[in-house]
Order: sequence, then structure tokens, then C-alpha cells
Amino acid sequence: MARTSNIALLLMLYHVFCTAEMPEEPLCTEVIAGKDYDCEGLGLQELPDSVPDSTEILDFSFNSLFAIYHFTFSRLDKLEYLDLARSGIAWIYDDAFSNNTRLTTVVLTGNSIVYIAESAFLGATSLQHLYLQKTFISDLWLIPMKSLSNLETLHLGSNYITSIQLPDDTPVTKLKTLNLELNHISRITVENSNTFKHTDNLTLILKGNNIEYIEPNSFNSSNLHCLDLTGSAWNVDLSSVLKGLNGLRADSLRIGTFNDMNVDKDVSPSDMNCLCNLTTKELSLQYQTFSDDQKTFPCLAKIEKLDFTFTDLPRFPGLSKDNLLKELLLNHNQFSSLCSISSETYPLITHLHIARNMKTLDLGDGCLKSLTGLVYLDLSQNIFMHPICCSSSFMGLASLRFLNMSSGNQLTLQNPALPDTNKTEVLDFSYSPLRIDKAFSPFSNLADLKVLNLSNSYVDASNRQVFKGLENLVFLNMEKSLFQNGVLANDNLFATTLKLETLILAKCKLREIEGQAIKKLKQLKHIDLSGNNLTVFNTNLFANLTFMSLNYAFNYITTIPIDFLRNISNENTINLSHNPIDCSCSNIDFLSWYKSHSNLFLDKENTVCGSPPSLVGTELYKVSLSCGTSWLKIIIFIIVAVATIILVICFIRLYKKRFYSSI
Ligand SMILES: *[C@@H]1O[C@H](CO)[C@@H](O)[C@H](O)[C@H]1NC(C)=O
Ligand SMILES: *[C@@H]1O[C@H](CO)[C@@H](O)[C@H](O)[C@H]1NC(C)=O
Ligand SMILES: *[C@@H]1O[C@H](CO)[C@@H](O)[C@H](O)[C@H]1NC(C)=O
Ligand SMILES: *[C@@H]1O[C@H](CO)[C@@H](O)[C@H](O)[C@H]1NC(C)=O
Ligand SMILES: *[C@@H]1O[C@H](CO)[C@@H](O)[C@H](O)[C@H]1NC(C)=O
Ligand SMILES: *[C@@H]1O[C@H](CO)[C@@H](O)[C@H](O)[C@H]1NC(C)=O
Repeated sequence: MARTSNIALLLMLYHVFCTAEMPEEPLCTEVIAGKDYDCEGLGLQELPDSVPDSTEILDFSFNSLFAIYHFTFSRLDKLEYLDLARSGIAWIYDDAFSNNTRLTTVVLTGNSIVYIAESAFLGATSLQHLYLQKTFISDLWLIPMKSLSNLETLHLGSNYITSIQLPDDTPVTKLKTLNLELNHISRITVENSNTFKHTDNLTLILKGNNIEYIEPNSFNSSNLHCLDLTGSAWNVDLSSVLKGLNGLRADSLRIGTFNDMNVDKDVSPSDMNCLCNLTTKELSLQYQTFSDDQKTFPCLAKIEKLDFTFTDLPRFPGLSKDNLLKELLLNHNQFSSLCSISSETYPLITHLHIARNMKTLDLGDGCLKSLTGLVYLDLSQNIFMHPICCSSSFMGLASLRFLNMSSGNQLTLQNPALPDTNKTEVLDFSYSPLRIDKAFSPFSNLADLKVLNLSNSYVDASNRQVFKGLENLVFLNMEKSLFQNGVLANDNLFATTLKLETLILAKCKLREIEGQAIKKLKQLKHIDLSGNNLTVFNTNLFANLTFMSLNYAFNYITTIPIDFLRNISNENTINLSHNPIDCSCSNIDFLSWYKSHSNLFLDKENTVCGSPPSLVGTELYKVSLSCGTSWLKIIIFIIVAVATIILVICFIRLYKKRFYSSI
């Protein structure tokens, strides 16, 4: 009996010590030597020896661990970040991380966890972020919260949790984010939300739970940073959830729903009235719809930022007097005019977003004139009804610094385009085709303008006065502007924009830039001439080449005379990709210069030869030409040399023969 058990023991030892060594161990990738290793998806059942003890970051996801024991990662005592996503872990045993005192982050996403020992995290005293999404956890009591005293982030999304109640001994003082999204929580009671009275500035994410009821006082005197209830209450009146938020204080409250969620119930005035009993600075109602009897929003007076994106509103009813509103998002609604948003009811506003309106929008006359403090106005992605822009529409906006009119329909600019009072610094008309009368200088009263985006606005550059007055302009994008005959001429568009640092002239069908066209722009740092028809790479165009980046990609440059490269320094960057560079001996000077200065060039993989045919597509740095010394010449040289040597030898022999025969 003893003998058979000995044999069994031997067999077992054999298995443990010998078979384990047999298969070739797959190698983890060394990301940073000694510190960062990637063992993702190698089917590993244990930590391989090739991962050194000094490792700080370890990606061990998509392996086959099954369980974590006290010895599994114990030798990695410098470990800070451990990714164990989808590694088949079901059991996490006692002291699993007890030796990893520096561990701050453990990702356990996608493991079907059955058991976590009470002392699993004991010793991992630095643990701050624990990710347990999709781990089939149905009960928060499974997690030994007591030992997680420094925890800041606990992510439990996409599980089967039904209650938000944390174990009583959970240390919550450091907890910043508790994410319980997409679980099965349907009710919240005073009893099981008790812990949240002791947190400070917590972000509590409950979105995607079908919460039907919150007991009043559940959050009374809770201080939250953010409470996210997006997508809750889709079977019931919103008020059955909102009534439970009485006494809540939060920086941000989200009670919208999701784009793809078909909620039949409109938000009623009595639902909105519940908001009178809580305090929040920001409120999001994205994707909700409101019943027609919503005349005003009386309980929003203390809110500073309101998000009504995609709420199907044909008119925004406005707020009650003396409200504190600073930012209003009204994107993706059904307004027919800028006058439909009751702007006179929130005069303190600084940021207004009305983008992607679903109806043709009438800019109207002076609809926003009471918003004297408005700094930021986003009207992008709209179709305007009377597309005359915009000095009468934006009357009174004395503080406006940022105006986004991009991606709209064709606009005819007035002269000037914006009213005289304005201080606009950023103006975006990109992707809105502009009509500007030939004699107009529509921006002439915008002395504060720094950024002007006219890309894809098809501005006709034959109007030389178009940028008159833009004395402080730093950034100008003119991509796809129209230049007569493809020439950027000397008599100049840029006569007053002397502070320009970035000039984008991409895709303007330019074939020529005259010598003085850009020379006045002494501050220019970036020029983008990509996608034109240029054949010349000319560095003499620029007043001050130091530190400049030159983008000449997608042109027709073949050869570059060495003279144009002499004033290039190590501070320049050049993008010459997608040009048909000539790789024959006639361009050898440039090709060798390129090799010795390749650090200056961007996108070297696409900086390739366009000729001769044998080298088309070869990266320039791979080309090695021997010009001036061809193989034929070398062979002739060798033949001549050999013949000379033979002749010399023959002469010496002849001489010796004569010498000896003469004795
Ligand atoms: C509250 O938390 C948020 C994000 O977690 C943070 O940005 C903010 O500074 C915190 N506020 C205070 C007062 O600690
Ligand atoms: C909410 O909490 C405060 C302070 O804790 C308390 O005075 C008040 O009675 C509570 N409100 C209700 C309705 O219970
Ligand atoms: C607001 O709270 C008060 C008492 O705290 C309560 O009487 C009232 O019904 C609440 N209003 C709503 C709309 O919940
Ligand atoms: C203007 O809005 C568009 C999209 O609507 C955005 O891509 C762009 O960045 C905005 N412009 C500025 C200057 O922020
Ligand atoms: C226009 O250019 C500005 C400045 O680079 C940029 O912030 C903005 O996003 C651009 N607009 C669009 C629609 O890309
Ligand atoms: C080079 O320029 C092209 C065209 O503007 C651009 O698409 C590409 O990203 C640039 N390459 C780099 C590395 O900046």
C-alpha cells in the first residue's frame, strides 16, 4: 500500500516538475525592459519566468489562469498595474495580492468570478482602482470591501447586481467613482443607500439600470459629484425616481435617456417639479421628450448648466426669473427660429449650443440681443432659412469670442459679417460655402480675431480685400479656396494678416506661388501646401524659415535643387510624402541630402520614388545610387590595372633576361 502511494507520489512529482517544463514557454513581449510586460492572449496558466521580479506593469489578459493563489503574483513586489481581463479566473484565494503592496490597479473584467476570499486583497494596501465589469457578480457582498481602504474607483458595470447597498464596513472616504451601470437595480431604498450619506464628492453611475422607484430621502443630505441615472425609469413616471432625490446635493445630475431607447412617457410638469427639492449645478435631460403643457421650467432656476440635447423641443419655454444659467445645450432639436428659445429669460448665459437643429433654422433679427454676456455660440451643422450672415442676427452679442457656423448651407456674408460691437477671437465657417461680394471685406471689423477657419468654404481669393483688417489673425485655414489659374500672386491677400503663424492652403489647385506672395508673413511657423499641383519646393518663399514646418505632401515635386536646401536647419520639419520624387542621378544631390537629414522628414514610408520605373514606390532612404562611377567604368578600370601589372612584370622579366644574358 505504502509502495503504491509512493509510486503515485513520484508520478505526481514527475508531472509537476517535468511535464511543466516540456512545452516551449511562449514569450511575453517586453514593452519597457524590466518594467512593462505584455503577456496578452498566450494561453498561459501561470506567470512565466521570463517576466522579471521588477515588473511594474503587466498585461496578463486573455490567458487561462482559473484561480489566483497567494503565490501566483507574489514575486512581483513592484507591480503597480495588473490587467487580468478575460483570463478565465473563477477563484481568488486568500492573500492573492498580499505581496503586491504597490499595486494600484487590478483589471478583472470579463472573468466569471465565483469566489473572492475575505483576505484576497489584504496587503494590497495601495489598491485604488478595481475593475470588475462582466464578472457575473450578483451581490456586492461578494467583494471583501473592508480591506479596500484606499479604493477610489470600483467599476462593476454589466453584472447582475440588484441592490446598491454596500457592506456596512466599506471604507468609503476615498471612494470617488462607483460604477454600477447596466446592472439589474430596480429599487433604491433609504436603507440601502445609507452609505452614500458618508461619501464626499462621489460619482455614482447607475445608468442603464431600469430603476422604477427611489424611496424619498434615499439621497437626502448626500453630497455627490455626479449622479448618473441616464436610462432609468422607462416603465414608470420619471417622478417616481425623482421624488426619491429630495435633499440631494450634486454637481451634476443626469436623468436623460439613450438614443436607441424608445421611451413612450413624456416628461410632465409634475416630474420636473420634483427638481425643486434637490440641488444640482448641472442637469442633463438628453433624449427625453416633454409633454406639450410644459410652459416654463420652474425648478431649474439654480442650475448653471442645462443639457436639452435631442429633446424634440419646437421651442424652449425659458426659465423662471433670476436663474443662474450659464450654459445651455439645445443641440438636435426642432426649432424653426433662433427666436424660439426664449433667450431673454436667461440673460447671464455665457455658452449656448444650438447645433444640428433638425429643422431649417431662421437666424432672425436680434433674437439673441439680450445675451450681452454670451462668449461662446455654436451654430454648427445647421441649415439656415435666410442664409444672410450675420450682422443683424447677432446684434447685441457684445462679449462673443467664439462663433461656430461650420458645416451649414451656403451663406452670403454681409459687409461686415458680424456687428461692430463684437470681440470675436475664433470664427469657424468651415464646410459652409461662403458667398462674398468681390468688393467686400467682411471681416474688417474683427481686429481681435485669432483663428479663422474657412476650410471647404470655397472662398474666392481673387477678392484681394477679403482678409482686410485681420491684424491679429494667427491661424488661417483656406483649404479648397479658389485661386485664379492656380496662382498665389504677389499682390497680396495677406497684406494685413501679418501675425499669421499657421496658413493652410491645402487642396487649392495651386500650381505656382509667386516669390513675394508669402514673404511678408514673418511669424509664419506652419504652412500646409499639401494636395496642390506644385512642382517646385522653394524655401525662398518664406521670410523666416527657422522652426518652420513645411507640408508639401501630395504635390508633383520631382527634383529639388540643393540650393533650396541650404537654409533648412535641424528645427524644420518637412512633409514631402506622396510626391513623385525622381530617384535618378540627376537628383542625386537631393537624395543624398535626404539621407543625411532624414530626421527632418515626416511620413518617410510614403516619401517614395516616382521615377525611374525600376524604383517607383521605393522609399527614398532605401535608394542607393552610384552616379558617376558605373559598373562598366569599374570593370574597365580593373582590366586596365591588371593589364598594366602584367606589362610591368613582362618588362621586368625582359629586362632581367637581357641583363643576365649580357653578363
Ligand atoms: C470632485 O470630483 C471630481 C471628479 O471626480 C473632481 O474633478 C473635483 O475636483 C472634485 N471636487 C472636489 C471639491 O474635490
Ligand atoms: C433630510 O435631512 C435633513 C438633515 O439630515 C433633515 O433635517 C430633514 O428632515 C430630512 N428631510 C426629510 C424629508 O426627511
Ligand atoms: C418637496 O419636498 C417637500 C417636503 O420636503 C414635499 O412636501 C413635497 O411634496 C416635495 N415635492 C415634490 C415635487 O416632490
Ligand atoms: C465647430 O463645430 C464642429 C462640429 O460641429 C467641430 O468639429 C469644430 O471643432 C468646431 N469648431 C471649433 C473652432 O471648435
Ligand atoms: C477649424 O479650425 C479650428 C482651428 O484649428 C479647429 O479647432 C476646428 O475644429 C476646425 N473646424 C472644423 C469643422 O474642423
Ligand atoms: C503629411 O501630410 C499629409 C497631407 O497633409 C498628411 O495626411 C500626413 O498625415 C502628413 N504626415 C505626417 C506624419 O504628419
